[in-house]
Amino acid sequence: MDLTVEEESILNGEEGETRQKMMEILVGIGKVFGAERMVRIRSAQVSGASYKTIGRWGLEWLNGLNAKATVPAVLNPVGMDRIRWEEMGIDQEFAKNQKDVMAAYERLGIRLECTCTPYYLHITEYGDHLAWSESSAVAYANSVIGARTNREGGPSALAAAILGVTPCYGLHLIKNRNPDLCFSVEGVPERTDESWYGALGYLAGKISGNRIPVFTGIRPARDQLKNLGAAMAATGATALYHVKDITPEARIFNYTTTGLETVNITGDEVAEVYASIEPDAIAIGCPHCSEEEIKKIASLLKDCSIKRPLYIFASRGVIARCKDTVSLIEKSGAGVYADTCMVVSPALEKYRTIMVSSGKALSYVPNMCGAKAVIGTLEECIRAACRD
Ligand code: F3S
Repeated sequence: MDLTVEEESILNGEEGETRQKMMEILVGIGKVFGAERMVRIRSAQVSGASYKTIGRWGLEWLNGLNAKATVPAVLNPVGMDRIRWEEMGIDQEFAKNQKDVMAAYERLGIRLECTCTPYYLHITEYGDHLAWSESSAVAYANSVIGARTNREGGPSALAAAILGVTPCYGLHLIKNRNPDLCFSVEGVPERTDESWYGALGYLAGKISGNRIPVFTGIRPARDQLKNLGAAMAATGATALYHVKDITPEARIFNYTTTGLETVNITGDEVAEVYASIEPDAIAIGCPHCSEEEIKKIASLLKDCSIKRPLYIFASRGVIARCKDTVSLIEKSGAGVYADTCMVVSPALEKYRTIMVSSGKALSYVPNMCGAKAVIGTLEECIRAACRD
């Protein structure tokens, strides 16, 4: 790789052992993927934050590092709400270990925002280069914002946060961002919500794998795009997708679908993803809820009281911006938690069947929580939570 003088000196250990280690990670990845140089990044988002996923060895590795992030960098969700963890039923030992992980990241200069929706913090714009690692955040940044990031692992995102650069390959290069598959969606119901796009993404990701699809026949709004990408990143490895006439690069480059392999997906096929099973608990907010979603939940819960556990997850920043609405929701008996989610927290492992409104959660809950997952619309989720 063609490194600058400064990058060479970091690699030679002239700026300390941790910065050298971090540069070795980035150069190693750059060489594997044929990057010619590094590119400066605007922000980083670091996964590997829940003690449930990184465990003792991950914590020891973090504790051995000594450096500070040099660009805005936020943490992915951790295994508990860092203030209300006892209410979530998290045990003392897990909480202690999780606090140690958060302290280690904080010492490294990573903001404890603990969210997979860092785009709600307004830290990125069209054309920015980023080093983000949570798969749904990566899909959103690339597809909905038109920023450029590869799907980083936890260590490479941390290295990029500390050094402010990432190897320039893959989705950092415009030439690699063209669609190579077309999903033609037909028979879209008149009323669709976020969950419908989650179910569509759940199907589409299984077909597209790591290709870059362009969708025709749909007109999703922002939160629907969020769910579509999150589900495709879970059942496939989607890091970028386009929607004709909707997403920024599809509008700017006006991609032709002529000559692309085309797969038809029908509304009936999407409807089959839904199942009617009584859940033990309901979990909403994968990816973390936006303010609009919190408001929708509050209006659906009006005059209802909760009969089964209803968990809602959002970033601390979003919760702070709609405090009054969150209080209304909690009056019904539901819990609105920050910093964590139904997948990375051990709190939901006690349930046998969990209803979600997200294609990504539908895919991850069985493996990560050992529970059966069913998807429902937001309305169905709230109705299930209020049923005896
Ligand atoms: Fe976010 Fe957890 Fe879903 S990290 S995308 S809410 S699995």
